[in-house]
Amino acid sequence: METKKIVVGNLKTKMDINDISKYLKIINEQVIDKEVIICPTSIYIPYFLKQRYSVGLQNTFVNDEGTYTGEITPKQAVSMGIKYTIIGHSERRIHLDETDELINRKVISAINSNMRVILCVGETLEEKQLLKTDMVLRRQLVNALNGLSIDMLDNVTIAYEPVWAIGTNNVASNKEIARTANYIRMILHQNRGYENMRVIYGGSVNEQNIKELNQIENISGFLVGGASNDAKKFLKIIEEVVVNQ
Ligand code: 13P
Repeated sequence: METKKIVVGNLKTKMDINDISKYLKIINEQVIDKEVIICPTSIYIPYFLKQRYSVGLQNTFVNDEGTYTGEITPKQAVSMGIKYTIIGHSERRIHLDETDELINRKVISAINSNMRVILCVGETLEEKQLLKTDMVLRRQLVNALNGLSIDMLDNVTIAYEPVWAIGTNNVASNKEIARTANYIRMILHQNRGYENMRVIYGGSVNEQNIKELNQIENISGFLVGGASNDAKKFLKIIEEVVVNQ
């Protein structure tokens, strides 16, 4: 297991090209750490390549060979030097009806093409209120990682992103995150015989709460949405987690 913490910026779909060019002026100059993985909207990826940070996709397609209009295959990504892909983000589960089964096929396809997968899991507010968090996480993990060997699992990082914490300013408590990270590791151990899975946290992480969140001992980094779209806020998060480690 890699021991250095990572910070992943999921830029989602908020910025247009004018925003991107202002953003890059700051980011390209100041971010010099391979432990920072920036995942832009895919049309802007070429502007982010060949810098001193890493680049990821927000999604990759389920197959590598064939013709699939509008999709990006892992093989194409790797040929551009892109090493990371986010799979199973709740926005795709919700708005694009991505199922656990499809997510599993995407994970396998990406790893078979030598990509590293950031697999998102997390419960909705309703599931949390019904005390179903553990059940939901177990289902998402067991299904998404079905059939993966230990070697393949080495290329996976689990991002625990409770849906109720995304874009809401309702960050999960350190205690909740630590407990869930342990639970995720236990599932991986029980179900796949895998030890010490790398778990990162996402959901309303920002430049103000990062110092406190970074105290959680069993978390290997953060997946940042909104705050990663603001270069200055993102730099503060990077400095706290990556630069000072
Ligand atoms: P926010 O940081 O905006 O809550 O988004 C989190 C997220 O969805 C990252 O993938």
